[in-house]
Amino acid sequence: MNYGDIPMRRPLVMGNWKLNGNKTMVAKLIKNLATGLNGVEGVDVAIAPPVMYLDLAEQLLGKAESKVTLGAQNVDIHLSGAFTGDISLEMLKDFGVTHIIIGHSERREYHKESDEFIAKKFILLKKNGLIPVLCIGESDAQNAANETLAVCARQLDAIINIQDVRVLHGAIIAYEPIWAIGTGKAATAKEAQRIHAAIRAYIAEKSEDVAQNVIIQYGGSVKLENAAAYFAQPDIDGALIGGAALNAESFVSIIKAAADTKNSY
Ligand code: 13P
Repeated sequence: MNYGDIPMRRPLVMGNWKLNGNKTMVAKLIKNLATGLNGVEGVDVAIAPPVMYLDLAEQLLGKAESKVTLGAQNVDIHLSGAFTGDISLEMLKDFGVTHIIIGHSERREYHKESDEFIAKKFILLKKNGLIPVLCIGESDAQNAANETLAVCARQLDAIINIQDVRVLHGAIIAYEPIWAIGTGKAATAKEAQRIHAAIRAYIAEKSEDVAQNVIIQYGGSVKLENAAAYFAQPDIDGALIGGAALNAESFVSIIKAAADTKNSY
């Protein structure tokens, strides 16, 4: 694989809409996002609506001349064929999708996706010029047993070991402690920073360059009230947001907090 130049680290705030929305909501949310983000600089923004609404989202973002990037919540490992119900990366590309969430804990848990299966998706996306947003993170029990770093390392190793650490060039890691997702029980900014720094240090053991440039987002109950504290941490390069991304006002406020905090360095 040609790993290309290492891109600079830029903050990215991404909305993962999960299984939410309808045509009216998509139209309203995108319209308000486009207006609300007018003039906001220095932070990349992406949204991952349900696959059903990608066509509509692509059209509306184009019409609004919005810089918001389109993402998807999942992808299959096959490009075409007899795989009922699955969606290929070629189809996602066809609708202008660039960022694809893989390894979300909800897919690991409810669809029994293994580290190896997720690694296959990661490599396939990279080979096809797409940006994997790789979710990693520990459960409540693993957290209590002090296994956070071991879990994150294992989830990363599944990918690094079948390729090379440079496969992380241009990819995005989203640290999402499972116990913080949708619970309102977010990790403190200090705790999240400690884990992000440790993840970066783990990657730096293999390549300092890759480690310094890989984007590591935090995810799990990010709200306007706690967002700026995360963005003020040196190793937190943005956020992957569920619930608070379903409302234009809260999502835009979080993005503005990222722009203000990160641009003030
Ligand atoms: P919440 O922001 O709703 O906790 O969800 C986080 C998440 O899972 C994003 O992928």
